[in-house]
Amino acid sequence: MKEIVNILLLGSGGRECAMAWKLSQSPRLGTLFVAPGNAAPYGTRVSLDPMDFEAVREFVDNNDIDMILVGPENPLVEGIADFFADSPVKVIGPVKEGARLEGSKEYAKEFMVRNAIPTARFMSVTEETLEQGNHFLESLRPPYVLKADGLAAGKGVIILDSLADAKDTLSDMLEGMFGGASATVVIEEFLSGIECSVFVVTDGEDYKLLPVAKDYKRVGEGDTGPNTGGMGAVSPVPFANEEFMNKVASRIVEPTLKGLRAEGIKYKGFIFLGLMNVEGEPMVIEYNVRMGDPETEVVMPRLKSDLIDLLEGVADETLGIKQVVEDERAAVTVMLTSAGYPGSYEKGKVMTLPADQGVLRFHAGTQTGEGGEVLTSGGRVMALTAYGSTIAEAASKALAEAGRVDFEGKYFRSDISKDLV
Ligand code: AMP
Ligand code: GLY
Repeated sequence: MKEIVNILLLGSGGRECAMAWKLSQSPRLGTLFVAPGNAAPYGTRVSLDPMDFEAVREFVDNNDIDMILVGPENPLVEGIADFFADSPVKVIGPVKEGARLEGSKEYAKEFMVRNAIPTARFMSVTEETLEQGNHFLESLRPPYVLKADGLAAGKGVIILDSLADAKDTLSDMLEGMFGGASATVVIEEFLSGIECSVFVVTDGEDYKLLPVAKDYKRVGEGDTGPNTGGMGAVSPVPFANEEFMNKVASRIVEPTLKGLRAEGIKYKGFIFLGLMNVEGEPMVIEYNVRMGDPETEVVMPRLKSDLIDLLEGVADETLGIKQVVEDERAAVTVMLTSAGYPGSYEKGKVMTLPADQGVLRFHAGTQTGEGGEVLTSGGRVMALTAYGSTIAEAASKALAEAGRVDFEGKYFRSDISKDLV
């Protein structure tokens, strides 16, 4: 790969903003384009739809792009890496076959079974096998976990307390509650424990682990209310100690990469392991084929190594000689959201952004107004990331910033990371 690299980053959330911020610090960055991006100050925005691969190709050809870094899962599941397979541009992200780890929950579960990777017991059900599905539900203890097989914008997992509700919901899902995504439903045994997110970067042969994070999915304080895209995150995760991480490496990461190779899948990119710590034993809740959001907003700040250097390792298959150095400080991010989120909310609120006091501001749902002002344009608006010598110190700084940045209808959780200290 060339010394100076021009990068096209696809996506528009807080995750992409944190990646753009990190890339911008690299002495190896030529030009950074972000498509479609948001009002963040990193990189040049391009109005391109990441799902329109032909348009992406035209932009890549006209702008001397060396690397495409794919933020969200959809372009990967639709095969953007395959689309550029014969092109000189390097795509960071797996081919379509590899992206099935996220694109199909049924495939992911069967993959784990084939490779003896610890995960919850499950059964995959369609309309034809509804009766067996109901029997399987009867064999489980509550609560009941139902998952739409396909991509459902993060909303496809439903957890129910009663057997009757679980059976009704199973039928509703199979009848199209999430359209085609729930024509197949995975029923899973419920795992109790505490979750964490482990990020693997791989070139298909070697791998490195990025800093471990934990996100907070429920909208309300104390993990109550509906699921969201993520209300905040913290890194490191104290329980993900050396003993736990050795189990993650030997029982999950290595068998996953070995399984991909055995199945002839050349996987180059990120693997996000959603793990449950069940009494000290890591079990896989889900695979994602991209970085997490808002985990990236704490992982990138804690990555000391040059990101372009690491991505070069992925692209050129030299990851084995690269290094991941972690910042010793803790990082906590608090997500500011619009009133009503994850339900309906208003957009276009003018944001007040007081003078920077050293807390990172990762734009998520923002747009630039006609007069250059920053406007809200999404449910998750901005992730505020602070460092601290302890998690508690980082959290208190991020919260102070959440009080300073303002817009009408602003909401945030004030308990991010408190369960860990
Ligand atoms: P997902 O959309 O796959 O990230 O799932 C959403 C959330 O549902 C996860 O983050 C977990 O909190 C929860 N979940 C999924 N599967 C299970 C399971 N088998 N046991 C307990 N909780 C689960
Ligand atoms: N934070 C969870 C996700 O990105 O799916």
